[in-house]
Amino acid sequence: MPQYHLTTFGCQMNAHDSERMRGLLSSLGYHEAPDRDAADLILFNTCTIRGSADERFMGNLGEARRIKRERPDVVVAVGGCWAQSQKDDVFRDFPFVDIAFGPGEVNRLGELLARERIQAVGAFTFDGRFSGDLPSLRERPHQAWVQISVGCNCVCSYCIVPAVRGRESSRPWQAVVDEVAAQAADGVVEVTLLGQNVNSYGRDLPATERKSFAELLVAVAEVPGIRRVRYTSPHPKDIREDVIAVHRDVPEVCRHIHLPAQSGSTRVLKAMRRTYDRDRYLALVDRIREGVPDIALTTDLIVGFPGESDADFADTMSLVTAVGYDGAYTFVYSPRPGTEAGEQMDDDVPPEVKSQRISALIDTVQSTARARLSRHVGTVQDVLVEGPSRTDASRLSGRTTHNVTVNFTGDAEPGTIVPVAILDSTSTTLTGRSARVAEPAGAA
Ligand code: 5AD
Ligand code: SF4
Repeated sequence: MPQYHLTTFGCQMNAHDSERMRGLLSSLGYHEAPDRDAADLILFNTCTIRGSADERFMGNLGEARRIKRERPDVVVAVGGCWAQSQKDDVFRDFPFVDIAFGPGEVNRLGELLARERIQAVGAFTFDGRFSGDLPSLRERPHQAWVQISVGCNCVCSYCIVPAVRGRESSRPWQAVVDEVAAQAADGVVEVTLLGQNVNSYGRDLPATERKSFAELLVAVAEVPGIRRVRYTSPHPKDIREDVIAVHRDVPEVCRHIHLPAQSGSTRVLKAMRRTYDRDRYLALVDRIREGVPDIALTTDLIVGFPGESDADFADTMSLVTAVGYDGAYTFVYSPRPGTEAGEQMDDDVPPEVKSQRISALIDTVQSTARARLSRHVGTVQDVLVEGPSRTDASRLSGRTTHNVTVNFTGDAEPGTIVPVAILDSTSTTLTGRSARVAEPAGAA
């Protein structure tokens, strides 16, 4: 039996694609190897969003080179966004790589493996087949990723995704709903809809077969067995009133929106080509909170974008406190080849200023998140049980509708939703105890 070893970098879409690669390889008779040294196929699913992603991958690729030198029969395959970004050079610069393919060709992995013996092979254009149509080997039995679109039509000046993932293409809604139904039949209770810009879903579909993103959310929530629906990531410019109404009215659709702001400075947002300004973003937050008062909001923020002044950075800091995020991912700007900012703007914020800004931002995000999460202490939250806690196996771990992790004592089966009394909080997690009331003896 051939064995494969797969390493995944990057975002949820890559996690999804890797589950499909596992499903495909399993259907081809491959088993998972315990480590790279034991593998016949060394496979990477790569990311290239920041320079640090490339560097992390380079270390791993070096190990593959060593193994290939020792065992020339090993097949080294590189998929994902880094591979796509290097498509013209990958076989020249890394001659030990046998197969390279972009994020749009996961479906072709089997065919590429069959051809590999003849020559180094690569495939680099989306051929209209969604990796979501492949079989999946899910990491979690009760939670699933669902691909609703690929690619991105935005032109954010810092971002390499449009260059590597191509134009946006929506998956037909019936395929999405059918897949969710099959997952539900297989024990899935929570789905996360995935796309580079989920809420522009459907605009490229023919009018007669179109559902809006809000309609798709409702259709997925109506699938019997599905108790929770999440999605990532939306673009603030495409959040419409109907999506807010769905969060308010459909209990399965979780009380959480990840709403990437990137910056709090109108000037920087303009240079980023985000198409909204600070005031419009804050107005959107107000409309969301009016519709769904208890909703959790999280975000992505970049510091050190070209030209970012102290005043611009102060605007990002004040955005965090003005919104009161439940959490945020914070990044230092990294110039990417082929992007507008990377090619045409000076990376002029000095490294020490970038690092001061990121530390200050992380502190503010943490204190805001701590204050937000503390509001749950003393309440009872419905928690979808995922399994034993990673830090303490005597406790269980799961998440609230707000997407906050809860570690708690008590008995509960993974995949069930149980009430938990929240006793304590940090800036990222809650602790509690099961509040399930025992069935009274003899109750019908
Ligand atoms: N430099 C730093 N952060 C970036 N992101 C995207 N491109 C860059 C870049 N060039 C961040 C954005 C995005 C998240 C996935 O990564 O915040 O939302
Ligand atoms: Fe990385 Fe972006 Fe590609 Fe995801 S889409 S793997 S974050 S480069």
